[in-house]
Amino acid sequence: VSAVPRLQELETPAAVVDLDRMEANLQRVAAYTREHGFSWRPHAKTHKIPELGARQLAAGACGLTVATPREAEVMASVAEDILLAYPPVGETKIQRVLALPEVVRLSVAMDSLEALVPLARAAQERRRRVGVLVEVDVGMGRVGLPEPPQAVEIAVRVADLPGVELDGLLFFPGHVREPLGRQGPALAAVSRRLAGFLEALEGAGIAPRVVSGGSTPTLWRCHEMTGLTEVRPGTNLFNDRTTALFEACGWEDCAYSVLATVVSTAVPGQVVVDAGSKALAREEIGGGIAGFGSVLDRPEVVVTGLSEEHGTLGLEATDWRPQVGERVRLVPNHVCVSVNLQERLWGVRDDEVVECWEVAARGR
Ligand SMILES: Cc1ncc(COP(=O)(O)O)c(C=O)c1O
Repeated sequence: VSAVPRLQELETPAAVVDLDRMEANLQRVAAYTREHGFSWRPHAKTHKIPELGARQLAAGACGLTVATPREAEVMASVAEDILLAYPPVGETKIQRVLALPEVVRLSVAMDSLEALVPLARAAQERRRRVGVLVEVDVGMGRVGLPEPPQAVEIAVRVADLPGVELDGLLFFPGHVREPLGRQGPALAAVSRRLAGFLEALEGAGIAPRVVSGGSTPTLWRCHEMTGLTEVRPGTNLFNDRTTALFEACGWEDCAYSVLATVVSTAVPGQVVVDAGSKALAREEIGGGIAGFGSVLDRPEVVVTGLSEEHGTLGLEATDWRPQVGERVRLVPNHVCVSVNLQERLWGVRDDEVVECWEVAARGR
């Protein structure tokens, strides 16, 4: 404990996690998923830290979701049930995920026979069974099969191929980016699309055991997505400016911030801090929302500009006039990308640093 610095001693920029807020976020999603009978499979891409994956499992998660082989390897030290929600394409990735410890039950999302067939072959060679979730598109237009007959075709092939078994369907409603209270029509459209896929599977005599979906912006309305059995929120563990602006959390639920120091007040109307794009990440929210983040306890103070090591805070909307040397906590627009830039996160309670975690799965 003596090696853990005090908050005032942390050299900035430093990524800090308010432990009480994170714990409350965990308990809230655990209670919501219990109430609605959903399996909860949080996406570990947000934190990339095995200790935090273990906390999610202890709070009731059925397993973890990951996006990369590296995340799968790191999370395999704490999770025995891992979903790679990303198609492992190419022999290197396939072999890497199949080399996960035997105790891990691995499943993967895929939307093509080109990805499925080599995986099934390699799994069979290694005498390993891999679960498959056929990825369908419910409106985002990124990955996922758009038409029900295409999903049926893959599901049928999975049933035929040794080495793989069908778990069900997977989708990501990342296009639903209205504030929580205005998501009704978009969620109804998601349900209609899902119903089309489920009917087509039923017509082919296939009953999916799992229908995996959900995101942080839609988290509290997942029960309106008909047919859903499992939710995979990632961001929700920490929350961020996007989540708060979409009203899927309050500002007081933002657990992650980048602690920064004011380094210049020379230009009137703004201050400059020592957290730039290499600490906060240059992520835009879109939809006409300006800025790259905001001050934790003063959301009206927005990060208006970023260069690599400089963050500019606009002071138009505030009477607050911080001095050089003052420290501020900044909430990034998109927490997952900011975490990936950090070597470690500091867990703080009030003003005390009580934990430190290496971001073990950062990078690819
Ligand atoms: C496939 C998939 N599932 C789940 C998530 C988690 O979404 P969120 O961070 O909004 O909770 C993501 C995020 O990008 C994703 O790509």
